[in-house]
Amino acid sequence: METLLAAFQRTLTRSIQDAFDLSGEEAFADVAPCVQEEFGHYQCNSALRLSKLLKKNPRQVAELIIAHLDEGKKAECSKIEIAGPGFINFTLNPAYLSETLNRQLHDLHLGAVRPSKKQRIIVEFSSPNVAKELHVGHIRSTIIGDCLARLFEFLGHDVLRLNHIGDWGTQFGMLITYMKEFAPDVLQGKEETDLTSLMGWYRSAKKRFDEDPEFKKRSQLQVVQLQAGEKEAAHAWQLICEVSRRGFQEIYDLLNVKLVERGESFYNPYLKEVVEEFERKGLVEISDGAKCLFLDGFLNREGEPFPLMIQKSDGGYNYDTTDLAAIRHRIFDEKADRIIVVTDSGQSLHFQMIFAAAKKIGWLDSSRTEIDHVGFGLVLGPDGKKFKTRSGETEKLIDLLTGAVDQAKHILCERLPLATEDEIEELAQVIGIGAVKYSDLSTHRARDYTFSYERMLRFEGNTAVFLLYSFVRINGIKRKTQANMDYVLSHHKIDVQHPSEITLGLHLRRFGEILEHLSRDLLPNRLCEYLYELAEKFNAFFRDCRVEGTPEEGSRLVLCELTSRVLKQGLEILGLDTVERL
Ligand code: ARG
Repeated sequence: METLLAAFQRTLTRSIQDAFDLSGEEAFADVAPCVQEEFGHYQCNSALRLSKLLKKNPRQVAELIIAHLDEGKKAECSKIEIAGPGFINFTLNPAYLSETLNRQLHDLHLGAVRPSKKQRIIVEFSSPNVAKELHVGHIRSTIIGDCLARLFEFLGHDVLRLNHIGDWGTQFGMLITYMKEFAPDVLQGKEETDLTSLMGWYRSAKKRFDEDPEFKKRSQLQVVQLQAGEKEAAHAWQLICEVSRRGFQEIYDLLNVKLVERGESFYNPYLKEVVEEFERKGLVEISDGAKCLFLDGFLNREGEPFPLMIQKSDGGYNYDTTDLAAIRHRIFDEKADRIIVVTDSGQSLHFQMIFAAAKKIGWLDSSRTEIDHVGFGLVLGPDGKKFKTRSGETEKLIDLLTGAVDQAKHILCERLPLATEDEIEELAQVIGIGAVKYSDLSTHRARDYTFSYERMLRFEGNTAVFLLYSFVRINGIKRKTQANMDYVLSHHKIDVQHPSEITLGLHLRRFGEILEHLSRDLLPNRLCEYLYELAEKFNAFFRDCRVEGTPEEGSRLVLCELTSRVLKQGLEILGLDTVERL
């Protein structure tokens, strides 16, 4: 379904073309929602620009635009007004708004714009490192990436959710060497272990590696063996990956996130050819024995050229090589139309360089493949410092999530003394996990955000609980009236009249605009704000407009139904489940 904004853009562009005999960019109508509803619903801001172009008075330009406006469009408006230096404000008439809301209700995608061409979109997110360290940043990546993947799935694209796990690298050398000595039974499969133990061994191995030259030498030898595919080493590696995988999966299950694992090791077979291709095209320079790519515009702190190293002097490949192989694979084998990589902002320079290198060698053509690094800020603790769990160790990440569920349980037990244990359990799960996700997503992702159970579980303000509660309330209203909802839906239509109904209706109809915006700037907080405003506008409507037992009951119940569907769908895109009572 076309959005109201796009429809205005389309018809106004046509009237600019007709009025001034313009075409292309020059005729494109700049339309935006009005900031204040008392002025109108949508405004056209093009008269000023056109007045300069055509050397005409802006108000006169505005008048001419209106004079050439399609009659059908005029009929959809109750008021068209020129304001200030030539802004044109449009107010939709309630009958038209009602009609389009009724269409939205019966649209399977609730007014979201379906793409004219289905795109293959890769969203790479989560991407923790095997045995190394799992930090809250990986949870952020998981939550944000899942939301973007859900958005594109909802819009009807073909989405590939990739988990680029750090499952390759020198860390395995020391870990295997260490485990051979201290956990041989585990390596031989005689004893079970878990992610927490692995991380503990990793820390000890690292310490030993830094202090003991003998151990260091053995570890390096182990890496060579692993890379050569030596059987025992390969087996140990597999075991370590499997244990980590199980640990990660626990978190994904709790968050209800689906991912396809395609770690760094997947790209091993391609690394050699990638380097060779760069060499063949004459793009490689040797610097201190290492093969490097010098890309325009990338300088270090001293202002000297800062290269991307694609092969170390000892012949080893690294993170950069893997990422080049990954981008090549995604463009040519996966045939991605769009690639989105979600990591902390600290890696943004790395990705800018990878993208630049892929352009330079000719793999990445921005007219064919759209590519974005979606960065995000740090997670801070209550002390304003980088977040650490209580023990100061990062491996208990799952406790962070279960902690939110426990806190939710406390609150629920107080609020719902009559609920059974099972009910509380189920509600707490939805609310606790929802709260963690929502508090992350509702902050502009570039900003650092403070992790606080107390704040994320508040019942007021822009929180998950407030939205879930609003959802429950709307459904409560539907339940409370005697009417059977199926009957209401087939016998009544939305007919907005009261200003609060119009405000709510207009906001509902903007759902598609928000999703479209989100698909461009990839800022989930936009959708959170939209849903928060939706809940507030619904509350204002419910305060101002009686539903039960009025002549408008039918129409208003349908409006409640549409609100509840849009709210539920919006929450689903954020990755939040809903509940029926609270
Ligand atoms: N494993 C990396 C980390 O924990 C993130 C991977 C990001 N993705 C990539 N293609 N390099 O920092």
